[in-house]
Amino acid sequence: MIVIGLGGSLTEKFKIHGGETLKGEVSICGAKNSVLKLLAAAILVKGCTKIYNVPDLTDVKIMLNVLSELGAKLDYNMEEKSVVVDASDITSVTAKYELVSKMRASFTILGALISRCKEAIVALPGGCAIGERRVDFHIKGLETLGAKIKIENGYVHAKAPKLVGADLYLDIPSVGATENLMLAAVTAHGSTRIQNAAQEPEIVDLANFLNTIGADITGAGTSEIVINGVNLEDFHPAEYTTIPDRIEAGTFMAAVVATHGKALIKNIYPAHLTFFNDKLIQMGASIKLADPTTIEVSSRGRLNSINFVTQPYPGFPTDLQAIAMSLLTTANGVGIITESLYENRFMQVPDLRRMGADIHQDRNHAIIKGVKNLAGANVAASDLRAGAALVIAGLMANGETIVEKLHHIDRGYETFEKKLASLGAKIVRYNDENVNINMGVTNESRL
Ligand code: EPU
Repeated sequence: MIVIGLGGSLTEKFKIHGGETLKGEVSICGAKNSVLKLLAAAILVKGCTKIYNVPDLTDVKIMLNVLSELGAKLDYNMEEKSVVVDASDITSVTAKYELVSKMRASFTILGALISRCKEAIVALPGGCAIGERRVDFHIKGLETLGAKIKIENGYVHAKAPKLVGADLYLDIPSVGATENLMLAAVTAHGSTRIQNAAQEPEIVDLANFLNTIGADITGAGTSEIVINGVNLEDFHPAEYTTIPDRIEAGTFMAAVVATHGKALIKNIYPAHLTFFNDKLIQMGASIKLADPTTIEVSSRGRLNSINFVTQPYPGFPTDLQAIAMSLLTTANGVGIITESLYENRFMQVPDLRRMGADIHQDRNHAIIKGVKNLAGANVAASDLRAGAALVIAGLMANGETIVEKLHHIDRGYETFEKKLASLGAKIVRYNDENVNINMGVTNESRL
């Protein structure tokens, strides 16, 4: 049963008039890539879990639909930005292709279902625009814990009457695999060690949440996570607040720097952005800690070019790569970006070139020679972060930029245009029929 509509931004576009300097303050939402996993983990509790700082995003609604189809009852309070998940009764163990194919993160339900129901039938997510994005580490790790897994007709069928803790090694520190394995191992007999685990703040948040509801996990945030299995009955209702979204924060910082502005970025954990901040400073931006959860970011004059390689946390985040590329398009000199996580994450390049950028791409390297100015053009978001990068390019460009395919952007940025407009950007959301030109749709109208 689909309980929550996914919004209608397929036909909507942004119209941006570039050249405005962004000033003021903006508050950052809860982390998309954390809350999705917290929601999945909430099915471990035979009762009600309340999660705060839940952003209003399409991806969150997809995960709520996944939970609803499993039988969980949900109360999504958008005013309070909270969701209560009542997982007293889980009546299905199937996450259907229709939902999993819309959002890969719903695959995290696999580990949670294995712990809760000892069984799961979850659609394989398949590749996506930015790369093949396999799930072999998830499957191999679950099998090592004792799950019997068959892949049939595009679904993972997992049976796990008794999981036993084990030493697990990841070939690369995959975020999703670390999360699925933690979720399954929390109810395994004995101890599980995940080595070469992902160290992202979202992993720490999931471990903290799991510990809050009754798990016994140590080492999250390092490359070795130890999970001592507990009984399913040990999980209990609790309240929990999602960490701030470091990628949304980095996106707004970049937008301010791109327009030579000055703004306070509020409700963040500055330590989660250390590497990105350092790169912005190398480019000539000024970054000051205003208080423990606020950064003041500003820039003047032309930025300097930099080189960087995307890496797992704490390295340069791949999710800010496209956004940083927009900054480099008009920086002084030549910058080189190496994308080391995904095979196809330079999809913004053709559209940036259409705006006048000088970018040479050779496999996973992009060489960006800074030009004086970008010029507005019609462009289309090809994925979430590429879309945000084009919006930033539009803010930098002379004249008008139209960004299409906003459904990609709405997956991960809550009221993106409203927040940018509040900083002084000239940006409106409209649809082709021109019936609804406004300064961004309201939360209610996108339900
Ligand atoms: N990989 C495998 N086999 C696996 C798992 C991963 O080969 O079993 C490869 C992937 O193909 C990819 C690399 O490992 O090349 C890294 O993938 P990872 O599993 O770490 O990524 P993910 O869990 O699928 C999350 C975020 C992404 C973010 C990456 C890396 C969520 C919902 N998604 O994806 O976020 O780019 O970690 O930090 O948490 C975004 O928000 O725009 C986004 C794509």
